[in-house]
Amino acid sequence: MSDAEMEIFGVAAPYLRKSERERIAAQNMPFDAKTAVFVPDPKQEYVKGRIRSQDGSSVTVETEDSKIVTVHLDDIRPMNPPKFDKLEDMALLTHLHEPAVLFNLKERYAIWMIYTYSGLFCVTVNPYKWLPVYNPEVVSGYRGKKRQEAPPHIFSISDSAYQYMLKDRENQSILITGESGAGKTVNTKRVIQYFATIASVGDSSKKEQLPGKMQGNLEDQIIQANPLLEAFGNAKTVRNDNSSRFGKFIRIHFGTKGKLASADIETYLLEKSRVTFQLPAERSYHIFYQIMSNKKPELIDMMLITTNPYDYPFISQGELTVLSINDTEELMATDKAIDILGFNAEEKVGIYKLTGAVMHYGNMKFKQKQREEQAEPDGTEVADKVAYLMGMNSADLLKALCYPRVKVGNEYVTKGQTPQQVNNASGALSKAVYEKLFLWMVTRINQQLDTKLPRQHFIGVLDIAGFEIFEMNSLEQMCINFTNEKLQQFFNHHMFVLEQEEYKKEGIVWEFIDFGMDLAACIELIEKPMGIFSILEEECMFPKATDGSFKNKLYDQHLGKNSIFQKPKPSKGKAEAHFSLVHYAGTVDYNLSGWLEKNKDPLNDTVVQLYQKASLKLLSQLFATYSTADADGSKRSAKKKGSSFQTVSALFRENLNKLMSNLRSTQPHFVRCIIPNETKIPGSMDHQLVLHQLRCNGVLEGIRICRKGFPSRILYGDFRQRYRILNARAIPEGQFIDSKKASEKLLSSIDVDHAQYRFGYTKVFFKAGLLGLLEEMRDERLAVLMTRIQAVSRGYVTRLRLKEMSKKRESVYIIQYNIRSFMNVKNWPWMRLFFKIKPLLRSAEAEKEMQNMKEAFSRLKEEFAKSDARRKELEEKMVMLFQEKNDLYLQIQAVRLAGPPAEEWSAGPPMGTVMELAGPPAEPPTARTSVPLEVPLEVLPTP
Ligand SMILES: Nc1ncnc2c1ncn2[C@@H]1O[C@H](COP(=O)(O)OP(=O)(O)O)[C@@H](O)[C@H]1O
Ligand SMILES: [Mg+2]
Repeated sequence: MSDAEMEIFGVAAPYLRKSERERIAAQNMPFDAKTAVFVPDPKQEYVKGRIRSQDGSSVTVETEDSKIVTVHLDDIRPMNPPKFDKLEDMALLTHLHEPAVLFNLKERYAIWMIYTYSGLFCVTVNPYKWLPVYNPEVVSGYRGKKRQEAPPHIFSISDSAYQYMLKDRENQSILITGESGAGKTVNTKRVIQYFATIASVGDSSKKEQLPGKMQGNLEDQIIQANPLLEAFGNAKTVRNDNSSRFGKFIRIHFGTKGKLASADIETYLLEKSRVTFQLPAERSYHIFYQIMSNKKPELIDMMLITTNPYDYPFISQGELTVLSINDTEELMATDKAIDILGFNAEEKVGIYKLTGAVMHYGNMKFKQKQREEQAEPDGTEVADKVAYLMGMNSADLLKALCYPRVKVGNEYVTKGQTPQQVNNASGALSKAVYEKLFLWMVTRINQQLDTKLPRQHFIGVLDIAGFEIFEMNSLEQMCINFTNEKLQQFFNHHMFVLEQEEYKKEGIVWEFIDFGMDLAACIELIEKPMGIFSILEEECMFPKATDGSFKNKLYDQHLGKNSIFQKPKPSKGKAEAHFSLVHYAGTVDYNLSGWLEKNKDPLNDTVVQLYQKASLKLLSQLFATYSTADADGSKRSAKKKGSSFQTVSALFRENLNKLMSNLRSTQPHFVRCIIPNETKIPGSMDHQLVLHQLRCNGVLEGIRICRKGFPSRILYGDFRQRYRILNARAIPEGQFIDSKKASEKLLSSIDVDHAQYRFGYTKVFFKAGLLGLLEEMRDERLAVLMTRIQAVSRGYVTRLRLKEMSKKRESVYIIQYNIRSFMNVKNWPWMRLFFKIKPLLRSAEAEKEMQNMKEAFSRLKEEFAKSDARRKELEEKMVMLFQEKNDLYLQIQAVRLAGPPAEEWSAGPPMGTVMELAGPPAEPPTARTSVPLEVPLEVLPTP
């Protein structure tokens, strides 16, 4: 797009692409391809530098901050020429490697260009401040543009997905991943905003507004689902003040004409441990603090709570307020969202009551009975509140907690519990209530978003956490890493398929490797029979299994037999780990303590049964499908296939497989979010952090695959035009030769590695780096040519000047000669005489001339007088004629008025009447001649 075309983006234009002038200036920076390099740096990973000297394989480089370092030749990386400055698609970089990608992102980020492509990926760096790049004019600016036609943007990705959907009649998906705080959710919201704007049904009046159904049109409803989900599913973490603690896949369905039809949301892996535990710098789910902001005192009364979070240990282990979040405002938004989303009054009360009950759960106190292991309630006030909120009997609840009934054979016996066990059970119960409440809300939202409008295709947006490598990695990390491993495999395979298609289309013979297979080993180790998940699930069936027995089984099965499964290398200060997995993003040490318990996620069945019978309808509904050991035989067998007895990992795998098959039925688009620094400073980039993410999120992996093939490609026409200069003689002027032939001739005539390129049907393909070499050769060639042109033109100009100068020199001689001659003769008597006579000669001549002129003048004067007289005469005549004519006209008029006998007229005009005279009056003479009009216009009759 030219500068003028960029104006459609309004104030956002400079954040999307720099002006032509600035780009040209940047591309003409002085550059020496032979010495400009990136060098490794212990602190910053890579810095820019300049080669000072080379000695064998060791090179001495002066870095940008003037340090001199000596490194091995293999460790330095060449810089890309300035032609590639702040490139919009990094796959086109001729030198494709880690520092090139890093610095390209960094330089763009420094001027707030946060979106950059890397082949199939759209990479975005969190700006930590609001840029105008999401304004309405930007939305309309991207509408209908192809990816190559506009600067990189999430809207461009969205629009291509939309166009592909309409054109190919295929479902689409946009996969947004990244670390916590990298901007996944912000970008997801932008995608939804985009579709809500461009595909809005618009006319909401047509839609019937059913009572109990949501208010507003579908686009509003889709956007409204967010505040509610965020209140219950988002929390402050170290990295992100508003971190979504669940993955989501939002599908937006479109009708046949491409208008919004409906939407649904699928959620993954809500982090429920947060309900009862937070790190010091973190906070539990927003909803708790929103309610406690006391913006709606009636809620405080309803939930029987105070406004002091410290009264509730479950939610007050970390921070309680977040600077960037206004809990009072958010409470209003959540409350409004509940209404707009069509929850009825009873459901709404249920939501708040259960939220309150979860908080109270942490306050129930149990003490140990004297001389017994058994727990007993320490006061009943809290239990009364919980029971009241949940609609059950307080004594029953306490009894169920302290003396749960378990089935032994065919009989029920009560089992004693220690206070610790009771506390664990209440924690598990409150987490389960919270999770089920959340999932139920999602289901309800889906029901509301489900319109009866016909749907044709969908675009799904996946907002899910990226690869996690923490100090201590547990089952949750393995689940999320496994998900990412699968998503990466999906990407690799997709890219492989696309590349293969392109090569096939272009007729390039090349042995292609399916890079999806690279990840297969790790995926299989986790999910295949006898893999980690299956061993874990098997162990969960054994009542006697422990973490130790689980570990032993894993070791027996895999250690030493599978290179992906390793024993962690112990080192000081590192958290305890039990096994390591080699993921594509790096090797991760996992700690398997508590996996069995986490995976079984047992609930106190006796309490669950109370829930199922609770008078709070919502609660009984939440647990309706949960089958307990106590349910009677017939009911149980029916329910067993349902959600019960399903371990966490099995449920996760089921969901993940559903997601993957969903994704495989779509055409995917990939967005990678990058968190630039941990301190939320806008504009600054921490090299180490960013490189780590680029490795984990597959951007560098994508580039690695790229480099194996022929990543640079140019249409023959373009190639010929740009590089003909390298050897113009190869393509003779004047005779027709098609671009492909020309390119072939040209490439074979120049001195490059001929294995580095291939000829397709329409394009020529290059290995990474060759194009940079050609560019360099072209620059050299251009330099030679320019010098030659310069030399020739300078020579020409100088020769012109020389000619001029020699002419001047000759003139000087002539002048000199004349002056000398004059000097010689000026005192000669004859000459003097001549000087005297000369002026007279001239005046005699002038007199004669005067005489001639006088004669001519008098002749002309005479002639003029004659012709003037003649003109006057004629004019007079003319006036007379006019007068005559007007008189005649008046006469006729008079005759008419006198009027002849009627019969005479009825038979037609009397014979002999001159009809022309009765016509319109003659035109004044002025119209035809230049004779001054002397007849007054008034005298002319009007018809
Ligand atoms: N494109 C953006 N423009 C402005 N701020 C952003 C952008 N992306 C992220 N942020 C900031 O970073 C925070 C974290 O982003 P978020 O999308 O919640 O991260 P994630 O979902 O990846 O954990 C946001 O609350 C916002 O303040
Ligand atoms: Mg998020």
